[in-house]
Amino acid sequence: MKVFLRSFGCQMNKLDTNLVVNSFLQAGFKLTQVLAQADVVLVNTCSVRNHAEERVLSLLGLLKHIKKTNPELVVAVFGCMAQRLKEDLLSHEAVNIVCGPLQIPELVNLVNKAVGQKTKSTAVSEDIRHKSSQQQSQQLDDFEYSYDSAEDNLPAQAYVRVMRGCDKFCSYCVVPYVRGPEASRPPEKIIAQIKKLADAGIKQVTLLGQTVNSYHYEDFSFADLLYEVSKITDIEWIKFVTCYPKNFDERIFKAMIDLPKVCRYLHIPAQSGSDKILKAMNRGYTCDQYLRIIDKAREIVPDIAIAGDFIVGFPGETQEDFQKSVELIQKAQYKNCFIFKYSPRPGTRADDKLADDVPIEIKKQRNIELLAVQGKISAELNKSFIGRTVKVLVEGASGKSHLDNIDKKQHPQLIGRTSGDCIVVFDGPADLAGRFVDVNIKRASALTLFGRSTD
Ligand code: SAH
Ligand code: SF4
Ligand code: F3S
Repeated sequence: MKVFLRSFGCQMNKLDTNLVVNSFLQAGFKLTQVLAQADVVLVNTCSVRNHAEERVLSLLGLLKHIKKTNPELVVAVFGCMAQRLKEDLLSHEAVNIVCGPLQIPELVNLVNKAVGQKTKSTAVSEDIRHKSSQQQSQQLDDFEYSYDSAEDNLPAQAYVRVMRGCDKFCSYCVVPYVRGPEASRPPEKIIAQIKKLADAGIKQVTLLGQTVNSYHYEDFSFADLLYEVSKITDIEWIKFVTCYPKNFDERIFKAMIDLPKVCRYLHIPAQSGSDKILKAMNRGYTCDQYLRIIDKAREIVPDIAIAGDFIVGFPGETQEDFQKSVELIQKAQYKNCFIFKYSPRPGTRADDKLADDVPIEIKKQRNIELLAVQGKISAELNKSFIGRTVKVLVEGASGKSHLDNIDKKQHPQLIGRTSGDCIVVFDGPADLAGRFVDVNIKRASALTLFGRSTD
């Protein structure tokens, strides 16, 4: 049986996709890159913005068409959109199986049952905000431990989930309704998993959680976890995403200083610079409180790289509110920012209570403007790297050919990332993928550093 896979969404989904793929491989399925050869199509979905769901729906439209000539094809939709739409998604002609993110350990069995039967089935949480049973958490933990693998992702890199779900209920956000309540995984399970990955050649782990700094297992905090993970021989870099800018435990910054393995990189979304909008977003902090956290970060870790997220065009965002986001970006001096146009999500408080009253043209314009403001800052910061030598973990050959090719093309251009998440392009042999290399930076653009390996 051949499986074709498509995955949408964040790192959390990428990790789920890896786990699911490995569970299918172990059960005897083979992967195919050719849709026409597939017996089973797996689609991991995202609901965070309408656009993400539209992309899934257009794929399902194509699959419906293919099923006309191949009615035996089994289509399983899993992840956040599956949980959000539940049975409604099952009524789509193309779909055989709808499986929520907390039910992924069951997916292989569901598919096996559907093969040759043309049946439909659903496995989702009926009440997603209900805390998972001990048994379900255990099952998810075991699934995670059994099916994570060093071969997924980029060479020598792995994601490791430290917590599930989210309890913050930002008014615009669907995540708490599709991923369920916040739950931290037991530290011993996380550590055992990372040791296993390290034995298999992993050098960098990225600890994942929607609000990773809120991690706590009984009295064991996220900072404690950093100290424990640091003890694992062979793990050289530890990164983590995403941080929530409230109740920030300063010991996390101290860990960055104490522990050379902990990368000095902080992804800490502000979402807006306007207190009025932050309140309407239910973020629970003011712009000043946010700035105090990043000031503290820089006081303790002067060379920390900070990245952010912003939403433009949230209901009620005036030009003045927007200007405050521009000002915040200027003050914060982010290394880079992800900027999103507000997208109303059914079932969220913002969608229930607030009209989506900023016209799309204005959203687009604000998006472009914020990107331009951030672009200038990123370009300036990147220039300061010129002449310096930075250590990068090599990801592999660069997808596109860069005009800034410095050396004559003896080698492919490689792409790597620094511990502070800067993208570095340089020439070198392909077998450097998964290795640490020192690169002397010669040139810089807003998004990329270009250099020459000093080895
Ligand atoms: N848990 C993380 C990330 C959540 S989703 C955090 O809180 O930082 C990633 C990003 O998508 C968010 O930071 C936010 O900027 C954006 N986002 C979430 N819901 C959105 C919506 N309804 N419309 C537009 N952007 C949204
Ligand atoms: Fe969504 Fe807010 Fe939770 Fe992030 S913290 S996942 S934006 S509800
Ligand atoms: Fe991630 Fe999208 Fe779900 S951002 S948590 S895959 S809604």
